[in-house]
Amino acid sequence: TVLYGVFGDPVRHSRSPLMLNCAFRETGVNGAYAAFHVKPDELEAAVLGIRALGFRGVNVTIPHKVNVMAYLDEIDEGARFIGAVNTIVNESGRLIGYNTDGIGYVRSLKEETGIRLEGSNIVIIGAGGAAKGVAYALAKENPRHMYIVNRTADKAAQLAQNLYPLVSSEGMGLDQLENIKGKIDLVVNTTSVGMHPNLDEVPIALDWLQEGMTVSDLIYNPLETRWLREAKAAGCRTHGGLGMFIYQGACAFEYWTGKKAPVEAMRDIVLTSLS
Ligand code: ATR
Repeated sequence: TVLYGVFGDPVRHSRSPLMLNCAFRETGVNGAYAAFHVKPDELEAAVLGIRALGFRGVNVTIPHKVNVMAYLDEIDEGARFIGAVNTIVNESGRLIGYNTDGIGYVRSLKEETGIRLEGSNIVIIGAGGAAKGVAYALAKENPRHMYIVNRTADKAAQLAQNLYPLVSSEGMGLDQLENIKGKIDLVVNTTSVGMHPNLDEVPIALDWLQEGMTVSDLIYNPLETRWLREAKAAGCRTHGGLGMFIYQGACAFEYWTGKKAPVEAMRDIVLTSLS
């Protein structure tokens, strides 16, 4: 049996073991995946354990995604840009860090909405860790322009500047959204605004949304935020956050096993566990 796991603190509520063990079963891979509660001061020892015990792969979640990078042998280009690792591949004792959050997000978005990203105008709300991963992966799809919009405008400007070699982009404060109304194809919320238990909150004013836009929210608790519900009612195409979770796991599975992930079975088992 080939061993896998997720390191986090807390980690008890992680759906990754359920989802990845389902993927192994569906594809006939002889693997076993467990959740490991790793405190920050035990992270280095835990990473050494990957090598010592011969784990093939590990996912890394909050709060370790940034700090784990110091203990790896190699960091993939995308993970380096984002500054965070969520997937480790053990290549015969050499630990390589990847970030599948952003690419998982884009795969989910394309599969679930059919959106054409090339030449599109994109707004990203937020400029934190999640925004970085999503912005990097979207930038690789050749959009026309990306606007990073954040409560703290300086952070948006910084992220936009980092993206500039990849895509035409600019940062702005939330208060400047009015200036770009009407010319946007995709808007993505990467903040926690609207997440359980603050079900009434919306990240940006609902009257900013326009018919025909694609509106995407990384939140998956609840599965459909108020913002998405109202966007749908306003004639927008909507995309919730569960797919990002499923596909970041699918991408990790594919790095580890070289097999195509059974995405629908993974989604079904996670959805069942949430209801
Ligand atoms: P994550 O890894 O989930 O992205 P993070 O790095 O802490 O978490 O980033 C949180 C993002 O959500 C930030 O862009 C933050 O805005 P600030 O940079 O101004 O702090 C945004 N955010 C969080 N709560 C918010 C709120 N109530 N209103 C607006 N933006 C919010």
